[in-house]
Amino acid sequence: MESKNAPISPELLLKLRKALLSWFQKNKRDLPFRINKNAYRIWVSEIMLQQTRVAAMLPIYETFLERFPDPNSLKEASEDEVMKYWKGLGYYSRARNLKKGAGLLVEKFSGEFPKNYDDALSIPGVGSYTASAVLSIAYGKHHAVLDGNVKRVLSRLFLIEEDPLLNSTNQLLGNLAQEFLTPDSAGDHNEAMMELGALVCVPIPICESCPLIDHCEAKAAGKEREIPVSKSVDNWIDLDLHFLFLRSKNQILLLKYSGRRFFKTIYSLPFRLEGKHPYEKDSISEELFEESRLNTHPHRTKHSITNHRIQLKFSDILEEDRTRIEKILNKKQDVLFKWVREEDLKEEFPSSISGKLIKLKNKTIKQPELPVGKL
Ligand code: ADE
Repeated sequence: MESKNAPISPELLLKLRKALLSWFQKNKRDLPFRINKNAYRIWVSEIMLQQTRVAAMLPIYETFLERFPDPNSLKEASEDEVMKYWKGLGYYSRARNLKKGAGLLVEKFSGEFPKNYDDALSIPGVGSYTASAVLSIAYGKHHAVLDGNVKRVLSRLFLIEEDPLLNSTNQLLGNLAQEFLTPDSAGDHNEAMMELGALVCVPIPICESCPLIDHCEAKAAGKEREIPVSKSVDNWIDLDLHFLFLRSKNQILLLKYSGRRFFKTIYSLPFRLEGKHPYEKDSISEELFEESRLNTHPHRTKHSITNHRIQLKFSDILEEDRTRIEKILNKKQDVLFKWVREEDLKEEFPSSISGKLIKLKNKTIKQPELPVGKL
């Protein structure tokens, strides 16, 4: 096998780039963050797309940008409001970083996303992928992006059979991506690679639609479905996430504190992690979940957060003495709490989990069906 560190021939490079870019011009999706090259809008889109699919982020993207059309409006908004507009995307630390980053843009970079790579990296939540994406797409800077889709395209095109989890493989792919990048069209080139990986060079590839098929080494070797090799390890963690509707005077309790596993940056119902999991107990939820008073709903529903396979469940507690609860919470440092109306749960606890819990609550307990005619 030819060394993958050998330079790609100039003729091949020209052919590949030309085929890729003309395919992109004809086939690219009409996406709102492609309408103009505004770096702020592109930055927001790239952060949203880090862990969310295009179809899921689009409606949220549009309303988010209507409300926060520029860095200053995002900087000035309250964190709670930003979280509400982020609802449905999950991974809320991204939203908190965006808001912090907007502050930095206003205070340090004259209200604009910086053009320099190291300055871009200084923004919270911006790593090498996002810096390269924003700088190339918005400003045409010569930085190649390397996300999962691009890695798959490159691995197949150049028959990279090394374990994709190794740093050395990442480095090899990063070098290839940079070598392949089209001078003077870095933004389109990067988007074309991501688009090809999203639409054609998908896990089970649609090779007949691929503009690079004649040059794809994996296809030539009949290995297009095997590459990138998957050496996946099962790192799923199963757990029960048990929420508490702690009710007092027709209101329910919401908490916010960073010393817990999930929802570190937003208000949520109190919750407790149950099942076999590697995390430490959280003393606040331990105190609030008083076993003898828990009225636990029988239904469960599924959810996932990063590598956690979760069963959601909930219990109710009716509390006559609100000050007793507040005393428990006030003893702890950094715990914020508020009492809200249950009707406002979805707005106040901006996660798709609140909707799932409401659905669970509305589920009636089904009686077992009696066999017909066999009494
Ligand atoms: N994924 C993340 N950013 C993208 C972009 N700009 N185009 C296509 N897919 C993407």
